[in-house]
Formats: sequence, structure tokens, C-alpha cells
Amino acid sequence: MGPQMPVTSAAMEHQTSPERILMSPLLPQVIICDLRPAGPRHRDADGRTVRDGFALDLTSFCVMAKIYYDSDADLSLLKDKTIVFLGFGNQGAAQAQNLRDSGIPNEKIIVANRDDHYAADAKSKGFNVEHDYSKAAEVADVVFLLIPDQVQPRVFNEHFSSRLKDSATIVVASGYNVFYELLQFKPSQDVVMVAPRMIGSSVRSLYVKGKGFPCFVSVEQNGTGNGMPITLALSRAIGATKTGAIASSVREETAMDLFAEQALWPNIIMLFREAYSVLKEAGCSDEALVYEMWMSKEPAEIFEAAAEEGFIQQLKHHSSVSQFGQLSGALKLDGSNIRAHFKEILYNQVLNGKFQKEFSKIEEDLEKEGDANPLNQLYTKSEESELGQGEKRVRARLGLS
Ligand code: NAI
Repeated sequence: MGPQMPVTSAAMEHQTSPERILMSPLLPQVIICDLRPAGPRHRDADGRTVRDGFALDLTSFCVMAKIYYDSDADLSLLKDKTIVFLGFGNQGAAQAQNLRDSGIPNEKIIVANRDDHYAADAKSKGFNVEHDYSKAAEVADVVFLLIPDQVQPRVFNEHFSSRLKDSATIVVASGYNVFYELLQFKPSQDVVMVAPRMIGSSVRSLYVKGKGFPCFVSVEQNGTGNGMPITLALSRAIGATKTGAIASSVREETAMDLFAEQALWPNIIMLFREAYSVLKEAGCSDEALVYEMWMSKEPAEIFEAAAEEGFIQQLKHHSSVSQFGQLSGALKLDGSNIRAHFKEILYNQVLNGKFQKEFSKIEEDLEKEGDANPLNQLYTKSEESELGQGEKRVRARLGLS
């Protein structure tokens, strides 16, 4: 275990409740082990109960997450259970088919879906489709929530919450709604996460090839006392324990997911945008830039090699000039500003719920057409950049738009 630290960088600088950092299961296997007694509880400026005290230096020790395999899971626990898939999109279609191919009888599987092309797809694949959510809720022993995250609270709280059995298992594939407490459960129910780290089509194609896929699992509420065995059985049925399902938590999953979306990738987009403008100003053509920077698929190949051979070791495929430039250049860069920016996003935008509150205000607008949809406005603005305009010209010239 690492040294104990006063609450400094991780909590105070970022105005996040020390208690929240300490008590939340971001690192469920180790978090409690190294705490000094906490100070008295008091209310912070937002009226939350907090406790001064000591936090772990989370960077100072290595966390080993438990990994579960097929041999840890007992499919017979699902015998006689009625399993409802709320949603038959990317994940729903893949997971429902995998589960059926794992031996769960078709008559015990229900796809609960509004009457749209996803429902038609489920019917065409032989599933029993129920358009009346209430009927599906009443018979479900297990319900997989596989409709878009922003839609889940509305549909689940209105149609499922009060009708589900006291002993039902509710499965989420992303931590968001459970971490931000947007779904209503009974204390007697199991609330679990089985979150594939793969797009749905790969969840299906890897299963069909007899391969597994990375997945995070956790039990967030163990109402029946049998939460983990059921979670592992469900994970195995969808093919997630074949290569190992990693013990996680909705907090960890949400933190990493939203951090990548709100800190890492925005910076990568910004770096590409600025690099494009600098090279354009230096006289490079749009055609050369677009191919050099991404259309050749070189970045995709680099990430592929990083996954296969290692993030740093894949560099050995590049020329000596390239290796020297990349390694020495990265070491020369001072990451302290970006680290501070990253921490700001993680603590004061993601973990404190600020983003979720702001996003919830625009959620319904995401279903609007044209400029009334805030996402469309962001696309329009982003495409005004030199990179956006240059790419448009190149794609039009190549007949790709
Ligand atoms: P999706 O966007 O493919 O969902 C489509 C399904 O939701 C369809 O069945 C559709 O009928 C239903 N639906 C859409 N809008 C609706 C509405 N307003 N009311 C009722 N039903 C509606 O969803 P996806 O991408 O499969 O995501 C499901 C869950 O899986 C989410 O929690 C997501 O975070 C998680 N996840 C998704 C991954 C992916 O590959 N897209 C990867 C890992 C997790």
C-alpha cells in the first residue's frame, strides 16, 4: 500500500468532497485499506455533507483488478429466468443474440421495444418483441437496459421501476445513469453493470468466432445477496467472460469514459485542428494534409499496433528519424498544464456531476431536427475550421461526400 496523504491535490485543489473520493468505489478492491481517521462531518458550500481527513495518493500504488473467466460463472443460475432486453440497437441486438446462442431458450427472452425498425429487426431474427413496456416489466427476472443513456431514466422510471419484481436484476452497460443516481430501484433488487468495451457489432462477431471481448463488471446494489453470481452468469451468456471480465464500478467506468470524451479526445481534436492550420499556412495542400494526418489510416494502424504490441513498443515499426523525433519530442514537453486541465475536467466537471446536470438540460433537444438540435450546432461550428473545410473540399473532389 502507498503512503497516506493529507487531502491535497486529489480533493482540496479540486473542490471535490474528500468523502466522495474516499468512499466511492472507484477502486473497490483497495480503497478502504489505507485511511487515517477522518475528521468530523460538516456541510460544504453546496450543502453536501463532507468530512475533512486524509485521502490516498491514488498514484502511489498499483491496483490489481480481479478478472473473471467462464470458469467463474454458472450459466445454470439463469435457468427459468425471463430475460428482457430493453432495446435492440448496437448492444441490444448483439447481447440478445449471444445470450440466446449460449443456450438461453428463445421463449425466455423478450425484446421490449417501441415499434420501430429495431423492433422489426428483432422480429426478423426470431425474438419475441413486446411493445408494451409494462407487460415486459412485470415478467422480467432480468432486464438489460440497452437504449441510449439519455433515454433510460425516462423509459425505465416511468414504465419499469414500479412494475419490476422485488428480486429483479437490472443490468446496465454503462455506468452513467447509476453513478449519477438517475434511475429508481427498490433496495431488494440487484443493480449490476456488464459493460462491454466494444461496439455492438464486435460483441456479436467476436462471439460468433468463439472469441471474447473486454468487459467491465460490477455489482452496485446487491439486493438479493446473489448479485455477483448472477452478474457473472449473464456476462458469460453474452460472451464477456471468455477472455476475462474486469471487476470495476460505475464510478470507475463513468470517470474513464467521460474523461476520455471530455478531456482526452477534445485535446486530440484540437491538436489535429491546430496542426492542420499550421501546416496549411506553411503551404501544404489540403490533399496532402488530409491523407498525411488521417485518411491514409496510419493513425488507425498505429493504435492497432499499440493494442497488439504496446503503446511505446509499437514505435519500433517507425523509421529511426520518426522514433527519435517522437520519443525525444514527447519527453521534452512539460505536461503539467495539461495535467492540471485534465484534473479540472475529471473532478470539477465529471465526478462532481456538473456535466451531467448541464447535459440533462439539453437531452430532449437532441431529438430535434436542424439547428434546434445543439449537436447539429456543434457540428456546424466544428466544420468551419480549416481542417473541416479542407477535408470537405478533398472529399468532394474525390467523390467521397
Ligand atoms: P442504441 O442507440 O443502439 O439504441 C437503440 C435502441 O434504443 C433501439 O432499440 C431503439 O428502439 C431504442 N430507442 C432509441 N431511442 C428511444 C426512445 N426515445 N425511446 C425508447 N426507445 C428508444 O444504443 P446502444 O449504443 O446500444 O447503447 C445502449 C447502452 O449500451 C448504453 O447504455 C450505452 O452507453 C451502452 N454501450 C454502448 C456501446 C456501443 O457500442 N454503442 C458500447 C458499450 C456500451
